[in-house]
Amino acid sequence: MTDLAVETRGLTKRFGHQLAVDSLDLAAPRGSVFALLGPNGSGKTTTIRMLLGLAAATGGTARVLDHEVPGGLGAALPQVGALIEGPAFYPFLTGADNLARLDAADPRGRARTRSHRVAEALERVGLTKAAGKKVRAYSLGMKQRLGLANALLLPRELLVLDEPTNGLDPQGTREVRSLIRSLADGGTTVLVSSHLLAEVEQVSTHAAVMHQGRLKAQGTLAELRAAGTAQVLLRTPDPEAAAAELVRFGLVVTGRQQAADGSTDLTATLPEDAPAPEYLVAELVAAGVGVRGFEVRRPSMEELFVALTGEGFDVAR
Ligand SMILES: Nc1ncnc2c1ncn2[C@@H]1O[C@H](COP(=O)(O)OP(=O)(O)O)[C@@H](O)[C@H]1O
Ligand SMILES: [Mg+2]
Repeated sequence: MTDLAVETRGLTKRFGHQLAVDSLDLAAPRGSVFALLGPNGSGKTTTIRMLLGLAAATGGTARVLDHEVPGGLGAALPQVGALIEGPAFYPFLTGADNLARLDAADPRGRARTRSHRVAEALERVGLTKAAGKKVRAYSLGMKQRLGLANALLLPRELLVLDEPTNGLDPQGTREVRSLIRSLADGGTTVLVSSHLLAEVEQVSTHAAVMHQGRLKAQGTLAELRAAGTAQVLLRTPDPEAAAAELVRFGLVVTGRQQAADGSTDLTATLPEDAPAPEYLVAELVAAGVGVRGFEVRRPSMEELFVALTGEGFDVAR
Protein backbone atom coordinates (compact mmCIF):
# COMPACT_ATOMS: atom_id res chain seq x y z
CA MET A 1 0.00 0.00 0.00
CA THR A 2 1.34 3.42 -0.95
CA ASP A 3 0.56 6.58 0.97
CA LEU A 4 -1.34 7.94 -2.02
CA ALA A 5 -5.09 7.51 -2.39
CA VAL A 6 -5.05 8.87 -5.94
CA GLU A 7 -2.12 9.06 -8.28
CA THR A 8 -2.02 9.95 -11.95
CA ARG A 9 0.89 10.07 -14.36
CA GLY A 10 0.56 11.90 -17.62
CA LEU A 11 -3.20 11.45 -17.49
CA THR A 12 -4.64 12.87 -20.69
CA LYS A 13 -8.07 13.24 -22.23
CA ARG A 14 -8.62 14.53 -25.70
CA PHE A 15 -11.98 15.47 -27.18
CA GLY A 16 -11.38 15.79 -30.90
CA HIS A 17 -8.41 18.09 -31.04
CA GLN A 18 -9.13 19.68 -27.68
CA LEU A 19 -7.01 18.57 -24.74
CA ALA A 20 -9.44 18.62 -21.81
CA VAL A 21 -6.83 17.08 -19.51
CA ASP A 22 -3.21 17.46 -20.49
CA SER A 23 -0.54 15.17 -18.97
CA LEU A 24 -1.81 15.47 -15.45
CA ASP A 25 0.40 14.25 -12.57
CA LEU A 26 -1.69 14.20 -9.42
CA ALA A 27 -0.62 12.86 -6.04
CA ALA A 28 -3.33 12.91 -3.38
CA PRO A 29 -2.06 11.53 -0.05
CA ARG A 30 -4.24 9.19 1.98
CA GLY A 31 -6.03 11.07 4.73
CA SER A 32 -5.90 14.39 2.88
CA VAL A 33 -8.70 16.67 1.83
CA PHE A 34 -7.36 17.21 -1.64
CA ALA A 35 -8.83 20.02 -3.68
CA LEU A 36 -8.88 20.03 -7.44
CA LEU A 37 -9.10 23.74 -8.01
CA GLY A 38 -9.59 25.52 -11.28
CA PRO A 39 -11.91 27.75 -13.25
CA ASN A 40 -14.80 26.31 -15.21
CA GLY A 41 -13.60 24.25 -18.14
CA SER A 42 -10.19 23.54 -16.65
CA GLY A 43 -10.71 19.77 -16.74
CA LYS A 44 -11.76 18.90 -13.19
CA THR A 45 -14.86 16.90 -14.02
CA THR A 46 -13.14 15.11 -16.88
CA THR A 47 -10.32 14.13 -14.53
CA ILE A 48 -12.76 12.82 -11.94
CA ARG A 49 -14.73 10.91 -14.56
CA MET A 50 -11.54 9.19 -15.69
CA LEU A 51 -10.62 8.32 -12.10
CA LEU A 52 -14.01 6.68 -11.62
CA GLY A 53 -13.92 4.79 -14.91
CA LEU A 54 -16.76 6.88 -16.37
CA ALA A 55 -14.54 8.16 -19.19
CA ALA A 56 -11.62 6.48 -20.88
CA ALA A 57 -8.27 8.23 -20.75
CA THR A 58 -6.59 9.05 -24.03
CA GLY A 59 -3.19 8.58 -22.43
CA GLY A 60 -1.31 8.21 -19.18
CA THR A 61 -2.08 6.13 -16.12
CA ALA A 62 -4.06 6.48 -12.93
CA ARG A 63 -4.27 4.58 -9.66
CA VAL A 64 -7.09 4.80 -7.16
CA LEU A 65 -6.49 3.25 -3.73
CA ASP A 66 -3.54 1.41 -5.25
CA HIS A 67 -5.64 -0.13 -8.01
CA GLU A 68 -4.89 0.52 -11.63
CA VAL A 69 -7.58 2.48 -13.52
CA PRO A 70 -9.60 1.17 -15.25
CA GLY A 71 -8.48 -2.49 -14.91
CA GLY A 72 -8.51 -2.61 -11.12
CA LEU A 73 -11.47 -0.34 -10.54
CA GLY A 74 -13.74 -3.25 -9.73
CA ALA A 75 -11.67 -3.81 -6.61
CA ALA A 76 -11.31 -0.13 -5.74
CA LEU A 77 -14.82 1.20 -6.31
CA PRO A 78 -16.51 -0.47 -3.31
CA GLN A 79 -14.25 1.75 -1.20
CA VAL A 80 -15.07 4.89 -3.16
CA GLY A 81 -18.09 7.12 -2.68
CA ALA A 82 -18.71 9.64 -5.41
CA LEU A 83 -20.75 12.69 -6.20
CA ILE A 84 -20.44 13.84 -9.76
CA GLU A 85 -22.07 16.60 -11.74
CA GLY A 86 -25.79 16.29 -12.09
CA PRO A 87 -26.50 13.13 -10.08
CA ALA A 88 -29.34 11.21 -11.69
CA PHE A 89 -32.38 10.48 -9.57
CA TYR A 90 -35.87 9.31 -10.37
CA PRO A 91 -38.05 12.42 -10.11
CA PHE A 92 -41.17 10.39 -9.31
CA LEU A 93 -39.56 8.70 -6.28
CA THR A 94 -38.97 10.33 -2.91
CA GLY A 95 -35.45 11.19 -1.79
CA ALA A 96 -35.48 8.28 0.65
CA ASP A 97 -36.72 5.82 -2.00
CA ASN A 98 -34.07 6.98 -4.46
CA LEU A 99 -31.37 6.32 -1.87
CA ALA A 100 -32.85 2.93 -0.98
CA ARG A 101 -32.67 1.98 -4.66
CA LEU A 102 -29.07 3.07 -4.95
CA ASP A 103 -28.20 1.31 -1.72
CA ALA A 104 -29.78 -1.89 -2.99
CA ALA A 105 -27.51 -1.72 -6.03
CA ASP A 106 -24.44 -1.99 -3.81
CA PRO A 107 -23.76 -5.58 -2.78
CA ARG A 108 -22.11 -4.40 0.44
CA GLY A 109 -25.30 -2.82 1.73
CA ARG A 110 -27.34 -5.43 3.64
CA ALA A 111 -31.08 -5.18 3.08
CA ARG A 112 -31.97 -5.50 6.78
CA THR A 113 -30.08 -2.34 7.70
CA ARG A 114 -30.95 -0.37 4.55
CA SER A 115 -33.57 1.96 5.94
CA HIS A 116 -31.29 2.80 8.83
CA ARG A 117 -28.42 3.66 6.44
CA VAL A 118 -30.70 5.76 4.28
CA ALA A 119 -32.09 7.67 7.28
CA GLU A 120 -28.61 8.27 8.62
CA ALA A 121 -27.26 9.53 5.28
CA LEU A 122 -30.24 11.85 4.87
CA GLU A 123 -29.68 13.14 8.39
CA ARG A 124 -26.00 13.91 7.69
CA VAL A 125 -26.89 16.10 4.73
CA GLY A 126 -29.85 17.79 6.40
CA LEU A 127 -32.57 16.19 4.29
CA THR A 128 -34.50 14.36 6.98
CA LYS A 129 -37.52 16.62 6.65
CA ALA A 130 -37.55 16.27 2.86
CA ALA A 131 -37.01 12.49 2.87
CA GLY A 132 -40.62 11.75 1.92
CA LYS A 133 -40.85 14.39 -0.80
CA LYS A 134 -40.65 13.40 -4.44
CA VAL A 135 -37.32 14.42 -5.96
CA ARG A 136 -39.26 16.24 -8.66
CA ALA A 137 -40.02 18.86 -5.99
CA TYR A 138 -36.39 19.15 -4.84
CA SER A 139 -34.41 22.31 -5.47
CA LEU A 140 -30.98 22.04 -7.09
CA GLY A 141 -29.41 22.35 -3.64
CA MET A 142 -31.56 19.53 -2.29
CA LYS A 143 -30.62 17.29 -5.21
CA GLN A 144 -27.00 18.09 -4.53
CA ARG A 145 -27.48 17.09 -0.90
CA LEU A 146 -29.16 13.88 -2.00
CA GLY A 147 -26.16 13.15 -4.21
CA LEU A 148 -23.93 13.64 -1.20
CA ALA A 149 -26.14 11.37 0.90
CA ASN A 150 -25.73 8.69 -1.76
CA ALA A 151 -21.95 8.97 -1.46
CA LEU A 152 -22.29 8.58 2.31
CA LEU A 153 -24.50 5.48 2.44
CA LEU A 154 -21.60 3.20 3.24
CA PRO A 155 -18.29 3.98 4.92
CA ARG A 156 -15.63 4.63 2.29
CA GLU A 157 -11.90 5.06 2.20
CA LEU A 158 -12.17 7.68 -0.51
CA LEU A 159 -14.85 10.20 -1.30
CA VAL A 160 -14.77 11.97 -4.64
CA LEU A 161 -16.94 15.05 -4.71
CA ASP A 162 -17.26 17.09 -7.87
CA GLU A 163 -18.24 20.67 -6.95
CA PRO A 164 -20.32 19.48 -3.99
CA THR A 165 -21.57 22.96 -3.11
CA ASN A 166 -23.00 23.72 -6.54
CA GLY A 167 -26.49 25.04 -6.11
CA LEU A 168 -26.20 25.34 -2.34
CA ASP A 169 -26.83 28.55 -0.43
CA PRO A 170 -24.19 29.88 2.01
CA GLN A 171 -25.70 27.87 4.86
CA GLY A 172 -25.66 24.68 2.77
CA THR A 173 -22.09 25.45 1.72
CA ARG A 174 -21.03 25.73 5.36
CA GLU A 175 -22.75 22.44 6.13
CA VAL A 176 -20.96 20.64 3.32
CA ARG A 177 -17.67 22.08 4.50
CA SER A 178 -18.19 20.82 8.03
CA LEU A 179 -19.35 17.47 6.68
CA ILE A 180 -16.13 17.16 4.70
CA ARG A 181 -14.16 18.04 7.81
CA SER A 182 -15.90 15.44 9.92
CA LEU A 183 -15.41 12.79 7.23
CA ALA A 184 -11.72 13.65 7.03
CA ASP A 185 -11.46 13.51 10.82
CA GLY A 186 -12.85 10.00 10.58
CA GLY A 187 -9.96 9.05 8.29
CA THR A 188 -11.67 9.29 4.90
CA THR A 189 -9.63 10.76 2.07
CA VAL A 190 -11.66 13.40 0.27
CA LEU A 191 -10.95 14.48 -3.29
CA VAL A 192 -13.07 17.55 -3.89
CA SER A 193 -13.22 19.77 -6.94
CA SER A 194 -14.14 23.42 -6.88
CA HIS A 195 -13.88 26.60 -8.86
CA LEU A 196 -14.20 28.54 -5.62
CA LEU A 197 -10.91 29.31 -3.98
CA ALA A 198 -12.44 30.49 -0.71
CA GLU A 199 -14.18 27.17 -0.27
CA VAL A 200 -11.04 25.18 -0.88
CA GLU A 201 -8.94 27.30 1.43
CA GLN A 202 -11.24 26.64 4.33
CA VAL A 203 -11.50 22.89 4.13
CA SER A 204 -8.64 21.30 2.25
CA THR A 205 -5.18 20.24 3.35
CA HIS A 206 -3.80 19.95 -0.19
CA ALA A 207 -4.65 21.45 -3.54
CA ALA A 208 -3.87 20.99 -7.19
CA VAL A 209 -4.47 24.02 -9.37
CA MET A 210 -5.65 23.28 -12.89
CA HIS A 211 -5.93 25.58 -15.85
CA GLN A 212 -6.87 24.53 -19.38
CA GLY A 213 -6.30 20.89 -18.53
CA ARG A 214 -2.83 21.47 -17.13
CA LEU A 215 -1.52 21.21 -13.61
CA LYS A 216 -0.19 24.61 -12.54
CA ALA A 217 0.76 23.85 -8.94
CA GLN A 218 0.26 21.14 -6.37
CA GLY A 219 1.05 20.69 -2.70
CA THR A 220 -0.10 21.36 0.82
CA LEU A 221 -1.86 24.66 1.28
CA ALA A 222 1.15 25.90 3.23
CA GLU A 223 3.46 24.94 0.37
CA LEU A 224 1.24 26.70 -2.14
CA ARG A 225 1.11 29.82 0.01
CA ALA A 226 4.87 29.86 0.43
CA ALA A 227 5.31 29.59 -3.33
CA GLY A 228 4.47 33.26 -3.74
CA THR A 229 7.35 35.69 -3.52
CA ALA A 230 7.19 38.00 -0.53
CA GLN A 231 7.22 41.72 -1.15
CA VAL A 232 8.40 44.64 0.90
CA LEU A 233 6.45 47.89 0.88
CA LEU A 234 8.50 50.80 2.15
CA ARG A 235 7.28 54.36 2.57
CA THR A 236 10.15 56.80 2.78
CA PRO A 237 11.03 60.45 2.14
CA ASP A 238 14.47 59.26 0.91
CA PRO A 239 13.71 56.94 -2.00
CA GLU A 240 17.16 57.04 -3.62
CA ALA A 241 19.05 56.11 -0.47
CA ALA A 242 16.36 53.60 0.48
CA ALA A 243 16.51 51.86 -2.90
CA ALA A 244 20.28 51.65 -2.68
CA GLU A 245 20.04 49.99 0.75
CA LEU A 246 17.40 47.49 -0.40
CA VAL A 247 19.50 46.54 -3.41
CA ARG A 248 22.51 46.12 -1.15
CA PHE A 249 20.61 43.37 0.70
CA GLY A 250 19.60 41.55 -2.46
CA LEU A 251 16.10 42.96 -2.86
CA VAL A 252 14.84 43.91 -6.30
CA VAL A 253 13.02 47.21 -6.44
CA THR A 254 9.96 46.69 -8.64
CA GLY A 255 8.01 49.87 -8.19
CA ARG A 256 7.96 53.39 -6.84
CA GLN A 257 5.00 55.63 -6.39
CA GLN A 258 4.36 59.04 -4.93
CA ALA A 259 2.58 58.72 -1.57
CA ALA A 260 -0.08 61.13 -0.32
CA ASP A 261 2.22 62.62 2.30
CA GLY A 262 4.82 63.62 -0.33
CA SER A 263 7.10 60.70 0.41
CA THR A 264 7.59 57.68 -1.84
CA ASP A 265 6.24 54.13 -1.69
CA LEU A 266 8.84 51.64 -2.83
CA THR A 267 7.94 48.07 -3.67
CA ALA A 268 10.63 45.39 -3.71
CA THR A 269 10.67 41.62 -3.91
CA LEU A 270 12.18 39.86 -0.94
CA PRO A 271 14.32 36.87 -1.93
CA GLU A 272 14.23 33.67 0.16
CA ASP A 273 17.65 34.36 1.66
CA ALA A 274 17.08 38.03 2.43
CA PRO A 275 17.78 39.28 5.96
CA ALA A 276 14.90 39.38 8.45
CA PRO A 277 12.57 42.38 8.14
CA GLU A 278 13.56 43.82 11.53
CA TYR A 279 17.21 43.72 10.47
CA LEU A 280 16.40 45.46 7.19
CA VAL A 281 14.55 48.23 9.01
CA ALA A 282 17.47 48.70 11.43
CA GLU A 283 19.91 48.91 8.52
CA LEU A 284 17.71 51.42 6.69
CA VAL A 285 17.50 53.61 9.75
CA ALA A 286 21.25 53.28 10.41
CA ALA A 287 21.89 54.43 6.84
CA GLY A 288 19.88 57.58 7.56
CA VAL A 289 16.83 56.53 5.56
CA GLY A 290 13.56 57.83 6.92
CA VAL A 291 11.11 54.96 7.38
CA ARG A 292 7.48 56.05 7.49
CA GLY A 293 6.06 52.66 6.74
CA PHE A 294 7.40 49.15 6.31
CA GLU A 295 5.41 46.06 5.51
CA VAL A 296 6.23 42.56 4.32
CA ARG A 297 3.44 40.86 2.52
CA ARG A 298 2.97 37.53 0.83
CA PRO A 299 0.50 37.25 -2.00
CA SER A 300 -2.87 35.95 -0.89
CA MET A 301 -3.91 32.59 -2.23
CA GLU A 302 -6.17 34.46 -4.54
CA GLU A 303 -3.39 36.56 -6.03
CA LEU A 304 -1.37 33.40 -6.39
CA PHE A 305 -4.14 31.58 -8.24
CA VAL A 306 -4.79 34.51 -10.47
CA ALA A 307 -1.10 34.49 -11.31
CA LEU A 308 -1.17 30.73 -11.95
CA THR A 309 -4.30 30.59 -14.03
CA GLY A 310 -4.24 34.01 -15.61
CA GLU A 311 -7.81 34.64 -14.62
CA GLY A 312 -9.80 35.70 -11.64
CA PHE A 313 -11.46 33.20 -9.39
CA ASP A 314 -15.05 33.53 -8.54
CA VAL A 315 -14.52 33.91 -4.82
CA ALA A 316 -17.82 35.44 -3.84
CA ARG A 317 -20.37 33.00 -5.13
N1 LIG B 1 -17.96 15.00 -23.53
C1 LIG B 1 -17.25 16.06 -23.95
N2 LIG B 1 -17.08 16.31 -25.26
C2 LIG B 1 -16.34 17.36 -25.69
N3 LIG B 1 -15.72 18.23 -24.88
C3 LIG B 1 -15.86 18.04 -23.56
C4 LIG B 1 -16.63 16.95 -23.02
N4 LIG B 1 -16.56 17.02 -21.66
C5 LIG B 1 -15.80 18.11 -21.38
N5 LIG B 1 -15.38 18.71 -22.50
C6 LIG B 1 -14.52 19.90 -22.56
O1 LIG B 1 -13.36 19.65 -21.79
C7 LIG B 1 -12.97 20.80 -21.07
C8 LIG B 1 -12.91 20.50 -19.60
O2 LIG B 1 -14.21 20.31 -19.13
P1 LIG B 1 -14.54 19.86 -17.66
O3 LIG B 1 -13.72 18.68 -17.29
O4 LIG B 1 -16.01 19.72 -17.55
O5 LIG B 1 -14.03 21.13 -16.82
P2 LIG B 1 -14.41 21.61 -15.34
O6 LIG B 1 -15.07 20.45 -14.64
O7 LIG B 1 -13.11 22.00 -14.72
O8 LIG B 1 -15.33 22.76 -15.49
C9 LIG B 1 -13.95 21.87 -21.42
O9 LIG B 1 -13.40 22.67 -22.44
C10 LIG B 1 -15.16 21.11 -21.92
O10 LIG B 1 -15.88 21.86 -22.86
MG1 LIG C 1 -16.92 20.41 -13.65
